[in-house]
Amino acid sequence: MTKIDLGVFMPIANNGWIISKNAPQYMPTWELNRDIALYAEKIGFDSLFSMVKWKGFGGQTQHWDHSLESLTLMTGLAAVTDRISIIASVQPLILNPVVAAKMTATIDQISGGRFGINFVTGQYFDEYAQMGLLPEGYANTRYDYAREWTEAIKLLWTQDKVNYHGEHYQITDCTSSPKPVQEGGVPIVCAGMSERGMAFTARHGDRCFITGRDLADLKDVSKRAKQVAMSLGTTMKTDTVLVLVIEDTDEEAQRVMEDYRAGVDVEAWRNIFSIYAKDVEGASSQTVLERAKRDVFFAFLPIAGSPVTVATILADLAKEGDLDGLMFTFPDYLRGLKKFDSEVKPEMRRLGIQFSSTTHEEEVA
Ligand SMILES: Cc1cc2nc3c(=O)[nH]c(=O)nc-3n(C[C@H](O)[C@H](O)[C@H](O)COP(=O)(O)O)c2cc1C
Repeated sequence: MTKIDLGVFMPIANNGWIISKNAPQYMPTWELNRDIALYAEKIGFDSLFSMVKWKGFGGQTQHWDHSLESLTLMTGLAAVTDRISIIASVQPLILNPVVAAKMTATIDQISGGRFGINFVTGQYFDEYAQMGLLPEGYANTRYDYAREWTEAIKLLWTQDKVNYHGEHYQITDCTSSPKPVQEGGVPIVCAGMSERGMAFTARHGDRCFITGRDLADLKDVSKRAKQVAMSLGTTMKTDTVLVLVIEDTDEEAQRVMEDYRAGVDVEAWRNIFSIYAKDVEGASSQTVLERAKRDVFFAFLPIAGSPVTVATILADLAKEGDLDGLMFTFPDYLRGLKKFDSEVKPEMRRLGIQFSSTTHEEEVA
């Protein structure tokens, strides 16, 4: 039996992870996030997770130009939920470890010990540059910042008086009290994908958050992360995020996918490319269009099909990729979560997948 955790990757920025005029267009409101969180908790999901984003990509769909802030959104969700884990994203350049230690202790108290952080060195450095916070050469030094930051916060979570003198963070005679409810501090998930990122996660984090170029690559990345941990004499769990497009039949799901592709926001993609991969700048518009059509789903891999097809692919990922956690985004979250719960989850059970937490109804049954 393969056991997995189920998580929801919350819609903290507008329109989620599909860059298309033909996908549902929505704002990332508190009410939407709250309703999704309460429903996910009710149907037995294990965690709620939000990314951190400070700058969007424009285009016709204004992709991610509208986003809530991760720590404060998750604090609100911690207050209205009872059981589910709550994970917010934190970047070392934005938040000093002393401030972060107090915030994490506060949110851990509000949640009754259900809080964790996703610690990311970041990807789109424009976000930091717009605040005047981008150090020269950060691409090469980011994991040095990350190491010092995690060393410092772990001291603040556990020691009475902290003195820490690193190259990037200096903490003098500092007391952080109260400590988090969870003994030793809150869990740290890290989304490092490079060799260095994975080694950092194995040494300083609790779980490794990954994605892949395609499903085969995702399985390889998961196994590679575990090997990196093993070579360092430790173990590491892996989680991924997927965009689930669940329709009644495979044909209907493919029709929806074609529709999304037809409505791709090329301008938003062009902006993403010019920020992220400078080498794509100057590429012909045809190249950008081709790439955008293939990648209408941003960052995370889509799985589209009938409930049986989606369940079969997810079960295979969990078993063959040795993944420990699956997180989902949906074009329409509440509709997608309902379909997942009533039609995909039972099928995954039949395929030998166990779920870490069960709903009250399941326990009674
Ligand atoms: C699942 C996942 C979630 C991520 N979330 C964020 C985020 O919220 N904010 C951010 O700036 N970067 C985020 N990243 C990007 C990471 O910070 C990092 O740049 C990326 O994983 C590349 O890995 P590397 O830094 O080891 O090369 C995320 C990456 C992954 C895989």
